[in-house]
Amino acid sequence: IQETHLPNSLSLLSVDSQTLQKQIDELSTFSDSPAPSVTRILYSDMDVLARRYVKNLMGLAGLSVREDAVGNIFGRWEGYEPEIGAVATGSHIDAIPYSGKYDGVVGVLGAIEAINVLKRSGFKPKKSLEVIMFTSEEPTRFGISCLGSRLLAGSEELAKALRNTVDNQNTSFFDAASFAGYEKDEEKLSSVFLDKGIYSAFIELHIEQGPILEKEGISIGVVTAIAAPASIKVDFEGNGGHAGAVLMPDRNDAGLAAAELALAVEKHVLESGSVDTVGTIGIMDLHPRAINSIPSKAHLEIDTRDIEESRRNIVIEKIHQSAMAISKKRGVKLSEFQIVNQDPPALSDSSVIKAMELAASELNLTYKKMISRAYHDSLFMARISPMGMIFIPCYKGYSHKPEEFASLDDMANGVKVLASTLAKLSLH
Ligand code: GLV
Ligand code: MN
Ligand code: MN
Ligand code: MN
Repeated sequence: IQETHLPNSLSLLSVDSQTLQKQIDELSTFSDSPAPSVTRILYSDMDVLARRYVKNLMGLAGLSVREDAVGNIFGRWEGYEPEIGAVATGSHIDAIPYSGKYDGVVGVLGAIEAINVLKRSGFKPKKSLEVIMFTSEEPTRFGISCLGSRLLAGSEELAKALRNTVDNQNTSFFDAASFAGYEKDEEKLSSVFLDKGIYSAFIELHIEQGPILEKEGISIGVVTAIAAPASIKVDFEGNGGHAGAVLMPDRNDAGLAAAELALAVEKHVLESGSVDTVGTIGIMDLHPRAINSIPSKAHLEIDTRDIEESRRNIVIEKIHQSAMAISKKRGVKLSEFQIVNQDPPALSDSSVIKAMELAASELNLTYKKMISRAYHDSLFMARISPMGMIFIPCYKGYSHKPEEFASLDDMANGVKVLASTLAKLSLH
């Protein structure tokens, strides 16, 4: 990829970061929790309003907007060789409970701004450019992460599982989707699948969600790989009973089984001996949740990840062994041990990496190659397209909490690198 492929004006890429910030702030008001936190759950009223906001911005940028059956949103700028696979970029705008306003959003609104930047510079795409807003990167509502991109990448397994998927209010996936104006017919889900080769590249801009770039004073992270995520749902069931009257030897406390499994998860993760292995029990619900009632049911959700898939799989196997052993020892029933997803890692494509590196150097920005420990829609886009990711620093590495913050300058740098990378790959 030659520098000479680009119009000279690209070195003068000007990002309207004030407007971008204003849009990020506006989008953050579509939230079910008070500012500064953001909570935006798939197919909720707030999600529908936020989607409308994004579609409007895509329209204002001159993109032609299409939505698929689950609400992945595509904004296309037709190139002068539209039959070649488009170069796509995008991220998500759903937000986990009490999180911040930058996760995902920078990669959607920043992508639309990258298109605006290219338009202002006079750029004409050869391959079409496309901005994608993915449905439900976060697993909050239906327990499945990267729902939209997983389906785009052709996951038959997910399409099948969604037929029996309900949220914690017992609302089915398809009822929720049709509430938001999307598909209610489960037979139509395969229409979401995209063919391999439909995109010649996919690039996602995202805040780092970790502290490295800020700490090292580096402007841009060029992501070379995304760690392998997995999640597990576990249910224990005991007899419950009166907290005073049932004596300790006569109990089979589902809550204590859950507590013991939680500590076992930590132990197995630490046993891997690598700092790259992580495990989290972010959900632990007890039933009937009364101080004077022995928990008769406990529900845990476990997230475990590693940059090495086999090491992560060993942890999953050990967690399963522990769950069975704890169930036996405590006389509680292990009524569910469901591995919801056990995804392999993804590698960025070398030509996309090169384009991102060249873009950063031409813009005189410091960059470093790094791994993404968080997962992203890019993990799944990599299955159907050459993939790359651009990270920007965020305050103290904070993410998934209200204190999440990225500066105007860092966002502007990210948008510039994205715009330049899109341009290079479009002309390539
Ligand atoms: C994405 O939100 C993740 O949990 O990595
Ligand atoms: Mn997130
Ligand atoms: Mn994200
Ligand atoms: Mn369950």
